[in-house]
Amino acid sequence: MAQRLCRIEEIGEFGKDLALPHAEGTRYLMLFRRDGRVVAYDNVCPHHGLGLNLAPGRFHFTRDGWLMCAHHGASFDLETGSCVSGPCRGAALKPATVEVRGQEVWLTDPDTAAGGSE
Ligand code: FES
Repeated sequence: MAQRLCRIEEIGEFGKDLALPHAEGTRYLMLFRRDGRVVAYDNVCPHHGLGLNLAPGRFHFTRDGWLMCAHHGASFDLETGSCVSGPCRGAALKPATVEVRGQEVWLTDPDTAAGGSE
């Protein structure tokens, strides 16, 4: 079962965060546009389980293009989700499977949230 997340143009230069109702509470996601694709992960830092951004829709990146957690500076490769430096080096973000259908982004992984789905 898939769930519509947003229109692709809603994902800004610094990403987009979402909070979705879920059977086990709220699922927090972060979406990024990369080379014409959309990549998505749970917005949960493997260091202390916090969201990586401090402000809505405003994620931070290093000069090398790594996604950087705003709390303690762990940096992640958006292609793999792996932490490449910082306090949780070697850990990884949890990926979320999304599809772009026309101009809309859909969550399609088995952990899809309840409600608002097709
Ligand atoms: S919570 Fe992300 S680096 Fe500490």
